[in-house]
Amino acid sequence: MIRSALMTVMTAAAMKAGRGLKRDFGEVENLQVSMKGPGDFVSAADRKAEKTIFEELSRARPGYGFVMEESGVVEGTDKSHRWHIDPLDGTTNFLHAIPHFAISIALERDGQIVAGLIYNPATEDLYVAEKGQGAWNNDRRIRVSARRDMAMALIGCGVPHLGKAAEHPRFKAELAAVMARAQNVRRMGAASLDLAYVAAGRLDAYWERGLNSWDMAAGLVLVKEAGGFATEADGGSDILLQGTVCCGVEPIHRELLAILKSAR
Ligand code: IPD
Ligand code: CA
Ligand code: CA
Repeated sequence: MIRSALMTVMTAAAMKAGRGLKRDFGEVENLQVSMKGPGDFVSAADRKAEKTIFEELSRARPGYGFVMEESGVVEGTDKSHRWHIDPLDGTTNFLHAIPHFAISIALERDGQIVAGLIYNPATEDLYVAEKGQGAWNNDRRIRVSARRDMAMALIGCGVPHLGKAAEHPRFKAELAAVMARAQNVRRMGAASLDLAYVAAGRLDAYWERGLNSWDMAAGLVLVKEAGGFATEADGGSDILLQGTVCCGVEPIHRELLAILKSAR
């Protein structure tokens, strides 16, 4: 396990926000949500978790900046550090009482992501990585898979939702190309956990477009520290800026990039 002061701070913030999310998830499961429907209840849970994380991290590391999904950018006085936070990744799963969602927290130092944490409060699964210290799932060191054969590989992806229908043709072309070569495909519904699953060797590779830094920053440290490769879906290196990712164990990552290219 990583026992640095930084990881202690990140874990404490995630655990505190996670307790609230777990309680709120219990309400959704029991359908005891307000008259306004689960949608409003879930967005309140989401904002509450973000506020908790923001307060905890601000107290422990005064001056650091923030990039948050719900509250946007908060400039810090310390220009070399900022957090990337998704307080609830996998909102649709949460809304449908599916226990596959997570808090994602990453720290950027001088333009480089140096630490990442992903925590699913429903299963109490914690994934952490810090530059040079490996990737961990609870007390277990994790590594990307050892598979080399695409025909044996399980590939994660993200399906653009109805509001992004303009993205559907490209996604369908890419999915068809991957289905023709890989063992099978999964759409789990939380980008941060997709990346953590690649790091843990459960998925051999994963690709998605239309993401933001808060979805990916923590997971990318995990994948790299677990020995995996990550690029943009088109092969470039500006993953966080471009908002697309293709990652996995080296041979499968390389082949997945080629398959995606063939679908263009
Ligand atoms: C979403 C999830 C989903 C991905 C979406 C993201 P949210 O994040 O990570 O898996 O396909 O593109 O926006 O909205 O649940 O935080
Ligand atoms: Ca997200
Ligand atoms: Ca979110």
